Amino acid sequence: MDGREVTGQASPGRWGDRDFIRVWDARPPTPLRDEQLDILATVVKDGYRKGARILDLGCGTGNVEKLILDRLPVARFTCVDRSPVMLEFARDKLKDHDGQCNLVQSELGRLSPLRLPGRPFQFVISVNVIHELTHAAKHRLFRSCRDAIARAGMLLIIDRLAIDNRRLRGPYQSVLQRLQRVHGVDTGEYSAHFADPGHKDDEHAATLDQYFRWLLQAGFHPTLLHLHFHKALIAAVPEKPAH
Ligand SMILES: C[S@@+](CC[C@H](N)C(=O)[O-])C[C@H]1O[C@@H](n2cnc3c(N)ncnc32)[C@H](O)[C@@H]1O
Repeated sequence: MDGREVTGQASPGRWGDRDFIRVWDARPPTPLRDEQLDILATVVKDGYRKGARILDLGCGTGNVEKLILDRLPVARFTCVDRSPVMLEFARDKLKDHDGQCNLVQSELGRLSPLRLPGRPFQFVISVNVIHELTHAAKHRLFRSCRDAIARAGMLLIIDRLAIDNRRLRGPYQSVLQRLQRVHGVDTGEYSAHFADPGHKDDEHAATLDQYFRWLLQAGFHPTLLHLHFHKALIAAVPEKPAH
């Protein structure tokens, strides 16, 4: 991998625990996650301009890079994560693409896009990360993304949304149980407890309305590309050219 930068770092928590990560990284694929990732990879592949760099916010062990590189072998990435252990796994997983993936250890809440190699980025992607940031940090990050993205660039986010499981328990349970039945998926983001009215979200998932409001405030034009229960794929393009 070329280049490595360390900017301010908070504790990575479970994402710094090698044993936890080994189990997490070896978990079997699920059809619902695979479908959304396939849609994201298709959008990137169809729009990618040769030589452009993709910024991945919270790259983890490099799974998303691997998936995109399988379809688009010329893709180049700047991969940001605060966990040195996740980056270590990513380095190993992406070793066949040495020189195409620039791994950067950084806390997203303090990300300075102006210092990132490869700016402006044609694509900024983030998969299953944003709900771990506080709302204030999300807001700041979207503004940073706006500064980091190319004129014809696109932000693509896959993440879990906050749901009103107290007032809308009935329909949520129906949809979740149907997804579990049809696709045989009942763990992770599709666990039954997400439709339980007593479930307390201990992370910082945001509603779709909040995402759209923050993205609009940051100068993006957002849209929803895909939704499975509360797992959304959001795309956003710059509202006005910055570069
Ligand atoms: C659920 S994993 C997702 C990894 C990868 N995007 C994927 O889908 O396979 C979440 C990742 O986000 C990273 N992360 C969470 N909060 C972060 C923060 N504030 N700054 C930088 N990285 C963060 C974690 O270290 C972890 O690698």
